[in-house]
Amino acid sequence: MRIVLGVIVLAVASWFFSALLGTPEEVASAQGPSEWVSSKQCAECHEQIYNEWKSSPHANSWNNEDVRVQSDDFANKDCIDCHAPRPVFETGLGERVLPRSARRSEGVDCLTCHLLPDGGMAGTITNPRVACQPTTRRELQRVSLCAGCHDQHKTVQQWKATPFAEHREGCMECHMPYRDGTPEGGRLHTMPGGHYINMVRTAVTFTGEIDDAGLPAVTVANVGGGHSYPTDERSRASDIWWRTIPEGAELGADGVATEGGDWQHLHRIRDPYRHETDMVSTLLHFGDSRTLTIEDSLAAEGPVEVVLVYKRTPYYRDKDTGLAMELDAVSNPFDDSELVHRVVIEP
Ligand code: HEC
Ligand code: HEC
Ligand code: HEC
Ligand code: HEC
Ligand code: HEC
Repeated sequence: MRIVLGVIVLAVASWFFSALLGTPEEVASAQGPSEWVSSKQCAECHEQIYNEWKSSPHANSWNNEDVRVQSDDFANKDCIDCHAPRPVFETGLGERVLPRSARRSEGVDCLTCHLLPDGGMAGTITNPRVACQPTTRRELQRVSLCAGCHDQHKTVQQWKATPFAEHREGCMECHMPYRDGTPEGGRLHTMPGGHYINMVRTAVTFTGEIDDAGLPAVTVANVGGGHSYPTDERSRASDIWWRTIPEGAELGADGVATEGGDWQHLHRIRDPYRHETDMVSTLLHFGDSRTLTIEDSLAAEGPVEVVLVYKRTPYYRDKDTGLAMELDAVSNPFDDSELVHRVVIEP
């Protein structure tokens, strides 16, 4: 009896609402699909953006191998929050994001950044005639859109200390450049960072010289990072290694000489993680430069090759076992890092 009554009430209610708002079909056609449940729905009309996003670390944030290992396959539930988040306009810009329970494998998806609580999309235009119902929301262009997730590892705090913050040049300026150089072309959705070594290369310059004491020295300067280098305290490090090479040595495929002496570790640029209380931060803040001297008699013997490498894990993994190694056990840094810059200093 109660069920029958419920059905009647529902039927009356739905008749009432459709009379008020138009038939369900009319409502659906103005709004596109009745519900936005997946980024795949956007692909039909925003193919290029979809493909860029699909290839990006954001799209991979749930399936990412390193995240899986460190979160114990997300048994650590704290890790779900930012790696499979609910829409930020729903949880509130600048607020801590919250985890979602559905379609987690889409990671940080289109809905995370664009879906508004009313079912439309935050955009730079308002157009109610379009299926996804974009509405102009200027917050989309602000740093607070990224901050809910990206201050976990202090990137936003670091940015605030640079002239970019003063000039209101936010994260988009560098991480979402105009696709074809003009605003009409829209913004690049791959959002390159540490997984794109060419992006990393724009952060710093690396130069070599023989200093006043006659010793080889290198200088690394943060000229293009919008924050400290390398940003992300948890997982990133940048190391300087050197070795002697024979006169006229040729370059190999990995960008360094094909032959040379043993690699020696000179310096590490990194912010220690919370529990690493015995370490001091050596992060290179925006606008700063640092000179390091090679005080080793070996270096006087011939040309010295010095490299700056970027690491997505703070330690080096053994090629065969995958286990972390001490720095002095590393024989070839390129087994587990990428070349940022290289200089050769002649004695
Ligand atoms: C507040 C948001 C937030 C939470 C919570 C969070 N992460 Fe992340 N995570 C990020 C962001 C943002 C990045 C991108 C790197 C950066 O910060 O510069 C990232 C990157 C990573 C990376 C590097 C991925 C790569 O491809 O190199 C790992 C690994 C990682 N997170 C593991 C975890 C683990 C494990 C947890 C839970 C203990 C966790 N994260 C919780 C926001 C978060
Ligand atoms: C049936 C086609 C269609 C689907 C599906 C669709 N959109 Fe759109 N979207 C459009 C059209 C058309 C425009 C308007 C483009 C214009 O006027 O420049 C638009 C505009 C937008 C805008 C504003 C663009 C700007 O210049 O600011 C955003 C943001 C957006 N869509 C996001 C999404 C997202 C996210 C999804 C998936 C959840 C989605 N759209 C699904 C057709 C669609
Ligand atoms: C990490 C946040 C984020 C994700 C994920 C994201 N977007 Fe965007 N999107 C933005 C921002 C920020 C803008 C730039 C607004 C501006 O130009 O001021 C933008 C711009 C757009 C535009 C306007 C046109 C253009 O090319 O700039 C469309 C359409 C759009 N996004 C659709 C999508 C779709 C579809 C997806 C998923 C495939 C997606 N976005 C994923 C943040 C995001
Ligand atoms: C809801 C959380 C969230 C929001 C909002 C968000 N991100 Fe991310 N972002 C992440 C996570 C998580 C990762 C790490 C993905 C991975 O590698 O597993 C990441 C990675 C990145 C990376 C590193 C890419 C690389 O090459 O490793 C960049 C750059 C980035 N985001 C830029 C932005 C910008 C710019 C915005 C604002 C327009 C933004 N993000 C908004 C969560 C977020
Ligand atoms: C002036 C250009 C510029 C601005 C502005 C800028 N960045 Fe970056 N960002 C870079 C460069 C270059 C790198 C690569 C070097 C590095 O990691 O520091 C990078 C790296 C990153 C990474 C990758 C870290 C990783 O673990 O892979 C994230 C995440 C990131 N930026 C987020 C942001 C956020 C969030 C903002 C805004 C608060 C921002 N960036 C502003 C240039 C910029």
